[in-house]
Amino acid sequence: MPRRRIIAGNWKMNKTPSEAVALCAELKDLVKNDAVDVVYCVPAIDIVAVVEAVKGTNVHVGAENFYIVDNGAFTGEISAPMLKDAGVEYVIIGHSERRDIFGENDILINQKVKKAFASGLTPILCCGESLALRKADTYKEWIERQITWDLDGVTADQVKKLVIAYEPIWAIGTGETATADQAEEVCGLIRALIAKLYDQATADEVRIQYGGSMNAGNAAELLSKPNIDGGLIGGASLKPDFGKIVNA
Ligand code: PGA
Repeated sequence: MPRRRIIAGNWKMNKTPSEAVALCAELKDLVKNDAVDVVYCVPAIDIVAVVEAVKGTNVHVGAENFYIVDNGAFTGEISAPMLKDAGVEYVIIGHSERRDIFGENDILINQKVKKAFASGLTPILCCGESLALRKADTYKEWIERQITWDLDGVTADQVKKLVIAYEPIWAIGTGETATADQAEEVCGLIRALIAKLYDQATADEVRIQYGGSMNAGNAAELLSKPNIDGGLIGGASLKPDFGKIVNA
C-alpha cells in the first residue's frame, strides 16, 4: 500500500489565538486535498481555538510539545490527556529547538514517544544533524543514533503509525534547503534503519518527512523522492504558500 502523504505545519511560537483563527480561515480553501493528511501543529494556547476553527475541514491538529506525566505538580507543562481532550491528534517530539534551546535529550524524547503512543497521540519525531556534523561527514551515524535511542522500547506496530521528520538543523529557518538528493539520502537511510531495527513491513509503513526551509518552490521536487512522504514546514506554514505545498 502506498504511504499517505503528510504535510504538517509547525507554527512554532507564532500566532495569538485570534491570529490563529484568522490564519485557519485564510488557509481553509487552499489546503483542501483529500489525498494528503494536513496537520497544523500550533502553540498550546491556540489549540482550543484552532480545533474549533478547523472543524468540518480536512485539517488535523497537532501540539508542539507536552510532558510525560498525566497531571500534578509540573508548573507550566501540559499533558497528553489534556491534548487528547482538546482534540489534538499529533504531537511534535524532539524538534531541534526543544533539544538545543530547552535541553531535551534522547532519554526524555524516548519517554515522550512512548507516552504519546500510550495516550493515543501520533508522534512526529524529529531528528537531524548540525552543520558541524554535516561538514565532518558524521551525520549518518548521528541520525542513526538519535533514532535508535528515541525508539528504544517502541513496538513495530507503533512505529507503523509513527511519523519521522528529518530536519537538518542547518536548513531550519535559514532559507538553505537540503537538496532533494541530500534529503532523500537521509530519509532512505532512516527507512533502512527501521527495517534493521524492526522489519521491512514496518519500514514500508513508517512515514518520513523532510523539514528545513521547505517552500512552495522546492516542495514538489522534495516530495517526488521515493522515501520522502511529506514535509514539516515552519516559516511557510504561516502563509498561503502552505496550500501550495499541500498540493505540490
Ligand atoms: P522552517 O522550519 O520550514 O522554517 O525551516 C522547519 C521546522 O523547524 O520544522
